[in-house]
Amino acid sequence: MSFDLAGERILLGVSGGIAAYKAAELVRRLRDAGAQVQVVMTAAAGQFVGAATFQALSGRTVRDSLWDAAAEGAMGHIELARWATRVVIAPASADVLARLAHGQADDLLSTLCLATTAPLAVAPAMNHRMWLHPATQANMALLQARGAQVLGPDAGAQACGEFGPGRMAEPDAIVAALAASRAHSGDGPLTGRRVLVSAGPTYEDLDPVRYLGNRSSGKMGFAIAAAAAEMGAQVTLVAGPVGLPTPAGVRRIDVRSAHDMHAAVLGALPQDIYIGAAAVADFTPAQVAEHKIKKPTTSDDSGLTLELVRTPDILAAVAAHAQRPPLVVGFAAETTGLADSARDKLARKKVDAIAANRVGVAGSGFDSDDNALDVYWRGGDGAAEVVALGPARKSVLARDLLRLLIERVANSKAATA
Ligand code: C5P
Repeated sequence: MSFDLAGERILLGVSGGIAAYKAAELVRRLRDAGAQVQVVMTAAAGQFVGAATFQALSGRTVRDSLWDAAAEGAMGHIELARWATRVVIAPASADVLARLAHGQADDLLSTLCLATTAPLAVAPAMNHRMWLHPATQANMALLQARGAQVLGPDAGAQACGEFGPGRMAEPDAIVAALAASRAHSGDGPLTGRRVLVSAGPTYEDLDPVRYLGNRSSGKMGFAIAAAAAEMGAQVTLVAGPVGLPTPAGVRRIDVRSAHDMHAAVLGALPQDIYIGAAAVADFTPAQVAEHKIKKPTTSDDSGLTLELVRTPDILAAVAAHAQRPPLVVGFAAETTGLADSARDKLARKKVDAIAANRVGVAGSGFDSDDNALDVYWRGGDGAAEVVALGPARKSVLARDLLRLLIERVANSKAATA
């Protein structure tokens, strides 16, 4: 697939991490898309990849120091900051993210980031525990609040032998996201809005090898996150365990259990819109067995009784939060009594709208690419009114749902003005 970045002058920051080798491929892809690329390496990046590689691929002398008199003489760092139409940092280590979040200027890359007015995109790459650490997440939230585009990280096997979120987004996905943000930049109906989406199932561990889960694929929530980003929003996507790629321009936080999702969602507030599209487990085992639960070896063939306890209701917690987003939307996926349960959820969870999956529509539902929704709104008199959307592709439906939300908010503002 080809992407258009013609005319872009990209300052590519490469920081220290094993993913630095992927930055070499990224330089090629950026140039294939028509961009000029100036690589700036941090001191730690040089431990992983040599400057000669980047020099050959970019066709420009690599910069790595504020104190290189010859390079500064050719183009000073302030000139370089002005030259860039975009700054992309890939891989962005935990250390670089921390230094950017705190406005440090103790090396060339961090100084350039302070001195430039070009938009910043970062592709984090690190051990999954470092990525999920509250300090890193707080730094990311700060950077994102200042408008940084966050690309990835992806979840999967890590160089350290562990498994989780922290792999650098693939070069192709980075180029696609940069090209998409160029196409959508500036004037979407959600520009300047923060949208938080939760998606996918949750897994509730029983023991080290078993869990209670559900069949949610996450497709609807991911489609909503993608559509919101296309409409210009700053999107945070809290995703349960799913096998879906991160939509372009979306900041993703991977979680496993309902408790993790509760913490990640509340930790992402304040937001302008929260859309709870996740299929959150209602119950979780009272205890997680430390070792795999064994089946009896004797002739005793009695069953096993599990004790389950309630999980926190994330949607209700967001709706009752001191930092409640102005618009809170939930989903309902029932097989019977859909209308009654949607109305009940509107009232009980104190949310503004419930998007109910319309049952009985061919091809709609969990793993499908199509769906149909009945959107119930909380009326001023406590009554609910309903708008039908679809059946349609989930990507189309996601855009229709967001347009409906935007329209409703605009109308309610007009009515109260
Ligand atoms: O009550 P029920 O699970 O049917 O409601 C579905 C809605 O509530 C969905 O938006 C889902 O994301 C949300 N939910 C939640 N936390 C739970 C259970 C459901 O946020 N523990």
